[in-house]
Amino acid sequence: MLSLPSLFAAAGLLATSTLAAPAALPVVETRALVERAPVYTPAINITYSSPINSSLPKTLILATGGTIAGSSSSNTDSTAYQAGVVRIEVLIQAVPELLNISNIDGMQVSNVGSESLTDEIALKLSKIVNEAVCGSNASYDAVVITHGTDTLEETAFFLDATVTCDAPVVVVGSMRPSTAISADGPNNLLQAVTTAVTPDSRARGTLVVMNDRISQAYYVIKRDQNAVQTFGAPIPGYIGALLSDKPLYFYPASQPTFKQVFDVSNVTELPYVEILYGYQGADFHLLNATVASGAKAVVIAGTGAGSLTVAGIDLIQAETAAGIPIVRSSKINNGFVVPGDYDNVIASGTLNPVKSRRLLQILIALGKSTEQIQSAFEDKLKSSLNASY
Ligand SMILES: *[C@@H]1O[C@H](CO)[C@@H](O)[C@H](O)[C@H]1NC(C)=O
Ligand SMILES: *[C@@H]1O[C@H](CO)[C@@H](O)[C@H](O)[C@H]1NC(C)=O
Ligand SMILES: *[C@@H]1O[C@H](CO)[C@@H](O)[C@H](O)[C@H]1NC(C)=O
Ligand SMILES: *[C@@H]1O[C@H](CO)[C@@H](O)[C@H](O)[C@H]1NC(C)=O
Ligand SMILES: *[C@@H]1O[C@H](CO)[C@@H](O)[C@H](O)[C@H]1NC(C)=O
Ligand SMILES: *[C@@H]1O[C@H](CO)[C@@H](O)[C@H](O)[C@H]1NC(C)=O
Repeated sequence: MLSLPSLFAAAGLLATSTLAAPAALPVVETRALVERAPVYTPAINITYSSPINSSLPKTLILATGGTIAGSSSSNTDSTAYQAGVVRIEVLIQAVPELLNISNIDGMQVSNVGSESLTDEIALKLSKIVNEAVCGSNASYDAVVITHGTDTLEETAFFLDATVTCDAPVVVVGSMRPSTAISADGPNNLLQAVTTAVTPDSRARGTLVVMNDRISQAYYVIKRDQNAVQTFGAPIPGYIGALLSDKPLYFYPASQPTFKQVFDVSNVTELPYVEILYGYQGADFHLLNATVASGAKAVVIAGTGAGSLTVAGIDLIQAETAAGIPIVRSSKINNGFVVPGDYDNVIASGTLNPVKSRRLLQILIALGKSTEQIQSAFEDKLKSSLNASY
């Protein structure tokens, strides 16, 4: 068996009573779907259940793999380990402090490095989270998802856009495998659970907890390829911090201005949406091959504030004329792409390329027209830009 680090600081205990029933979020109106039967409803398959303490809240931990479940034969290796091998039961048992904070059920949804997490797994996670905390039979107070950090922002954004109630959903990972000296996973997991069961975590959208800091999924990005302080939201910043493993929020609960929530309970699969990378003089000739290979929409990770090239613009316009939604975002990952510079090319607003891809997938899966997709991306930002003083 793996030798897991057991040097966790004594956890601050958090006595919270069971949380109130979640309030429903306003859901954006969606068109009725054409026959897509049978509706895909993954089952909650619990493989770990803690002893029950009826005075504690109930948290569902969904494990997907990643470095937090990674293992290496060397305790100094944090680059060449194998991600996604330690199972949920072992992760939970490595942090016994969790059981003084919450009742815990664990489910292994997948066990992969997050770069290999499929659209199918992302959709399954969303459905399980909705069933666990939002549905009429919701039996949990909160959900924590353990996840690889490489694409953590993509899953967190997808959940933020598809979880239809205010219950806390926290995504957590680690930068060092469980076998490393000063592995960050155990404390991150403890902090994720304390955050999840804190009543003040409600109605803030999906949260990302790593390295003593709390970010909103809508804005968070991975900023460092190697270091433990990798997650953050450069412009809006963190919304909270953890002190002695107790979350403290800097402001009362609020949701991101441009956030929209969609009900994907009838969606059975997400469409293929591709991202093409911008660079000096790019002519984007791969756009045609991308569409020919089945992409239903394309995101361009453009330069600067989403600028497109002289060499590429005609081809891009030809594809939009042929009915392919094209969103221009920015590879800078930090700022706004504003509507209007290029006819028919949709501006991503605050969303970076990977988050733009997720929003496109949701909108297309819900049967939205290109015009509706453009509105979903641009309308709120346009109305801010057109506001009079
Ligand atoms: C159950 O949790 C409460 C609140 O934290 C604690 O006071 C109590 O000792 C726990 N009971 C058991 C049997 O662990
Ligand atoms: C439940 O999970 C266990 C362990 O991951 C797996 O062996 C089993 O096939 C799963 N059952 C269902 C119905 O998915
Ligand atoms: C859980 O709480 C009990 C009662 O306060 C304490 O004795 C025990 O050490 C705690 N367990 C952990 C793992 O912190
Ligand atoms: C809720 O649970 C009841 C009893 O198990 C079941 O009959 C009902 O179909 C469930 N409702 C939903 C929406 O899953
Ligand atoms: C899902 O499909 C069912 C059955 O067709 C329908 O009653 C329900 O309104 C649909 N839900 C959404 C969110 O589209
Ligand atoms: C690329 O696709 C567009 C839209 O279908 C078409 O107008 C254009 O001729 C294609 N260009 C090439 C080089 O195939």
